[in-house]
Amino acid sequence: MSKSVPLSAFDAVISRAGTDAMKWDKYKNQDVLPFWVADMDFAIAEPIQAALLERMKHPILGYTLPSDGLSDAVRGFLQDEYQWEVEADWLVWLPGVVCGLAASCRAFAQPGEALIVNPPIYHHFFDSHEPHHHIERLPLQCGNDHRWTWNFVTLEERLKAGGVGAIMLCSPHNPSGTVFTRDELNTMMQLANTYDVTVVSDEIHCDLVLNPEARHYPTAAAVPQLHDRTVTLMSASKTWNLAGLNCSYAIIPDPTRREAFKAAVQSTVPPVPPLAYVATEAAYLHGGTWRAAANEYLWANYQYLVERFADVSELHVHPLDATYLAWIDATNLPVDNAAEFFEQHGVGLSDGAQFDHAGFIRLNFACPRETLGKGIDRMLAAIKTLTS
Ligand SMILES: Cc1ncc(COP(=O)(O)O)c(C=O)c1O
Repeated sequence: MSKSVPLSAFDAVISRAGTDAMKWDKYKNQDVLPFWVADMDFAIAEPIQAALLERMKHPILGYTLPSDGLSDAVRGFLQDEYQWEVEADWLVWLPGVVCGLAASCRAFAQPGEALIVNPPIYHHFFDSHEPHHHIERLPLQCGNDHRWTWNFVTLEERLKAGGVGAIMLCSPHNPSGTVFTRDELNTMMQLANTYDVTVVSDEIHCDLVLNPEARHYPTAAAVPQLHDRTVTLMSASKTWNLAGLNCSYAIIPDPTRREAFKAAVQSTVPPVPPLAYVATEAAYLHGGTWRAAANEYLWANYQYLVERFADVSELHVHPLDATYLAWIDATNLPVDNAAEFFEQHGVGLSDGAQFDHAGFIRLNFACPRETLGKGIDRMLAAIKTLTS
């Protein structure tokens, strides 16, 4: 049984100076607070740290296999969390989700075929393909309630025209924070089945459903009778703040697709580092308490962010059910580029253009509330300079 984790643990401001942290060192020696790349400024869960230290008592770190214990830990977690029964041989271990996206493009799209992506979307969806494929952007639609979701009308029209290798989903969705409903996933899978395409579902954010009312369904488990069409990409890396360790996995029920994927991985994708396996196993087996507390803290951070910007007409924080990445409409801000503007005022954000949606910004709120508050103060002060 893991020890309880008080929410105040996430208030600790831990300097990342001297660790070459990509997030902070982008602005080394500058007075800019970083809210861009998706990692957390929180200490990892104590049982994960303990497992890593324990492993380091052995001094050899050679090529390593995923253990049966690791496979059981992942499968047990998926069963408990999503009632998804995954067989051990469906798992293919990878050192990252992005290389899984790239391998999927190689495996499931023939030369000349299209890969469908739904912007605004995590930028690696645009650049993981081979030169002989082409990316087709079918934008998400944003409803009156500001929830972003798939447009099945344009999707079906495009599928009907033929020549599509795979649909590349991001579920839950980065940067909009949408958790897709079971009905939406069902419609997606029925269309994929009718038009005979593979569905690649990047679910790296699935264990970060912050809204207690929302529920994530793995695409493959939402319509079990169609799971042979799916490739699911998952990792403990976002949820437990292990992004620098490089461990993720694909779940591929269909043996033919699995072999095609493995062939695409061979020679181009390095093996998973031993410490990464250790941390992943510890996260799934002993990280539940930490994760629950972290998600509660993150949800409170999101509410705080919404409140602080509630009366600010220049920025509209869109609703979010999952991820720690707020998607903010800055089109009312009278500047050419909102991300550049805020950076000049000491706040480092992601530019919506990176996700194919200029005019928006993305703010990573996985940090102590004090840091978030300072960033918001700077953004509000920056906006004031435009009106005063
Ligand atoms: C949707 C999505 N997929 C993949 C990644 C990166 O995955 P990895 O570091 O495992 O390659 C991210 C990181 O932010 C992400 O948001």
